[in-house]
Amino acid sequence: MKIRVLGTAAGGGLPQWNCGCAECAAARRSGAERSQDCLAVSGDGRAWYLVNASPDLRTQLLAAPELAPAPGTRDTPLRGVLLTSGELDHTLGLLTLREADRLTVHATEPVRRALHQAFPVGPLLASYTGSHWHTVTPGEPVELAGGLRAEAFALGGKRPRYAADLPGEGRPDRTDWVTGYRFTAADGAACAVYAPGLAEWTPAMDRAVAGADLVLLDGTFSTADELAERTGGARRSPGMGHLAVRDSLPHLARRPGPRYLYTHLNNTNPLARRDPPRAADLAAAVAAVAEDGMLIEL
Ligand code: MLT
Ligand code: MN
Ligand code: ZN
Repeated sequence: MKIRVLGTAAGGGLPQWNCGCAECAAARRSGAERSQDCLAVSGDGRAWYLVNASPDLRTQLLAAPELAPAPGTRDTPLRGVLLTSGELDHTLGLLTLREADRLTVHATEPVRRALHQAFPVGPLLASYTGSHWHTVTPGEPVELAGGLRAEAFALGGKRPRYAADLPGEGRPDRTDWVTGYRFTAADGAACAVYAPGLAEWTPAMDRAVAGADLVLLDGTFSTADELAERTGGARRSPGMGHLAVRDSLPHLARRPGPRYLYTHLNNTNPLARRDPPRAADLAAAVAAVAEDGMLIEL
């Protein structure tokens, strides 16, 4: 299995265009920028899938040699997109893919509905390309090209703000607005987990990371009060669907084995810096911060 980490920042990126905080200012000075959370994964190194479609997608694709078309053709190695949520930082890039000959998008039922009604990317894309939407059901693996298998697991019911009033919600308690994916290849010999929106550490997350080689997980905030402290607002990270790094680290310590990498870092998070101040805490837990452009082979 090959994984190209395309982007590692939360919505807004680093620096965020309208933010002059210490982290954003440092990123502007040093050029140590982070683009918005997005991943490419392949079972055989030839057929590739995007996981999420960030607003920075065009630049991210151009920086990934594996995703270039074959010379003299428009044959792209990109076989489809899997979504972990319907959030704008995970879906705006779908419109960037409209030049595709055809496009398959895998999403859970509520995310698919949000992307056809509240934010109608589905109908918009259909005017440009032959798009096909496949409904993802947590616990039911999807067999993808190149020997890649993706199994979604439900992570929570936090819906995007633009979909707050989406009508026709069959099950108000549904927990598949946000999912993680467990990818396996080579008949289970390689396993990677991707969970950029982890509201709390659940039994499903425990099951997903058991036996995994690599876990890319939610590193939005270092602490639950980080955003409130930085912005003077009242929003705490648990209510925003993001378990703080400080609160997930004890779970990683309980589950040694995989390589843990934090991603989806908000621009308020000191861990997003080039030389993060509390990196030693992570190292003690055998975790690190993911970087844009990383290529990981399992
Ligand atoms: C999130 O990760 O919670 C969302 O992407 C927030 C946002 O709308 O930027
Ligand atoms: Mn986000
Ligand atoms: Zn900032």
